[in-house]
Amino acid sequence: MNYTLITGASKGIGKAIAIEAASRGMNLFLVARSKDLLEKLSAELTTKNVSVKTLAIDLFEKDAADRIFQFAKENSFNVNMLANNAGMGYYGNFEDCPLSKHLEIMHLNMDACISIAYTFLKNSDSKQRRYILNTVSTGAYQPVPTMAIYSATKSFMLSFSRALREELKKKNVYVTALCPGGTYSDFFDAAQMAKVIEKNAQFMMTADKVAKVGLQAVMKNKSVAIPGLANKVGALASKLTPHDIVVPMAGNIFKV
Ligand SMILES: NC(=O)c1ccc[n+]([C@@H]2O[C@H](COP(=O)([O-])OP(=O)(O)OC[C@H]3O[C@@H](n4cnc5c(N)ncnc54)[C@H](OP(=O)(O)O)[C@@H]3O)[C@@H](O)[C@H]2O)c1
Repeated sequence: MNYTLITGASKGIGKAIAIEAASRGMNLFLVARSKDLLEKLSAELTTKNVSVKTLAIDLFEKDAADRIFQFAKENSFNVNMLANNAGMGYYGNFEDCPLSKHLEIMHLNMDACISIAYTFLKNSDSKQRRYILNTVSTGAYQPVPTMAIYSATKSFMLSFSRALREELKKKNVYVTALCPGGTYSDFFDAAQMAKVIEKNAQFMMTADKVAKVGLQAVMKNKSVAIPGLANKVGALASKLTPHDIVVPMAGNIFKV
């Protein structure tokens, strides 16, 4: 049986992707560290007549990607879609944040996603259509002062998604980058950004809406999905405007 693997499925956008995918009849393989939250979500989703597997795992562990696909093998199911969603951020000037935090963000937002995507391609049925949905960010479209490392990891993931899509297009693998702007979730608590949310409240979206846009884009084989008009306009403006202008503007949006 086919399953959709969602990383960071315990809350926020990942949880919303799980709920949206279940409502489309997709079986789910949910991954995050919080065992209790995964089990609670699994119990909610099985009422929708889909099969749900959970694995509590820390993606900082070196062999996490192998362990995820080992679990699928041991439980005799095929992963035909990957939602590479777990990620984290940190708010503040580069030199004021602990170096260890910068390195953690780089590891979770890039290395873990790359390892899981690679292991997915090697361990899934290549005769079937396969799907990869990478949760990126509108932060990928320009450097963001006070979130320098975060936005750089997301630029990396957008670039990776686009190149991978081109490489895999003849192999029946759809690759989509989901680029949300500000979305209500625990992300901002973890990144200590309550005041930034307050300032930009009019542009915030819900995780449900973001998840819907993301899954629709996957099914239509879109390369990039940017939820919300304001985010679309912002991303386009960032592409068209010289960096000397756009980078200070991005910094002002996040200044509190
Ligand atoms: N919220 C936004 O405004 C926004 C905007 C653009 C892009 N994004 C991106 O959307 C994605 C999801 O973020 P979110 O807003 O939903 O944040 P969130 O509510 O903080 O959720 C993050 C998810 O990642 C999991 N996670 C974190 N560290 C992990 C680790 N070491 N191992 C395994 N799982 C881990 C968390 O689960 P556990 O704590 O249970 O492990 C949780 O399920 C991220 O890639 C983020 O960069 C968010």
